[in-house]
Amino acid sequence: MIVRRMKLEDLEQVCALENETFSMPWSYQSILDSLLVKDNIYLVAVENDSVIGYCGVWVIANEGQINNIAVKKQNRNQGVGGKILQFLFQEGRAKQIEQFTLEVRKSNEIAIKLYDKFGFVKVGIRPGFYEKPQEDAVIMTVITSRKEESALI
Ligand SMILES: CC(C)(COP(=O)(O)OP(=O)(O)OC[C@H]1O[C@@H](n2cnc3c(N)ncnc32)[C@H](O)[C@@H]1OP(=O)(O)O)[C@@H](O)C(=O)NCCC(=O)NCCS
Repeated sequence: MIVRRMKLEDLEQVCALENETFSMPWSYQSILDSLLVKDNIYLVAVENDSVIGYCGVWVIANEGQINNIAVKKQNRNQGVGGKILQFLFQEGRAKQIEQFTLEVRKSNEIAIKLYDKFGFVKVGIRPGFYEKPQEDAVIMTVITSRKEESALI
């Protein structure tokens, strides 16, 4: 399995994964538009030419907003999500990104454990942020320089 920058030809597989993972998936067009923004970071994890995970990050000034991260069901809990975040942090260092932020469903304990492991901390709640089903979002942030100090990556 390797992690690399997403290419246009990955888009069909990324959309399929987005659709099978989320109740309100991003459309093909919205992922395409975001992928084409030069500063944004879109990554895929690939095994035997198949996309098994991806993440999409908007970069604004020195901050990264992680919009999507997903791993195919049959490939979860095998370190793929962690590898994607490690690669993202490397890319972030190269682009002088100082912090990453994301929203996660309050009930999504697995994702919250992953983010905890990578040094994200809970900094707030967005009430009713999600639909289908409606739920609060937990806002989590990691300061990447602090992350390096903790030597987890
Ligand atoms: C969240 C997600 C991306 C994690 O990816 P993953 O490849 O399964 O994660 P990893 O195997 O790298 O695991 C990293 C850490 O996450 C936690 N974790 C992963 N799977 C877990 C499970 N089944 N139970 C408990 N903790 C789990 C653990 O802390 C794990 O670290 P450890 O192995 O040292 O204990 C994946 O579960 C997923 O795609 N979920 C559906 C989409 C989603 O919820 N995305 C997040 C939206 S904010």
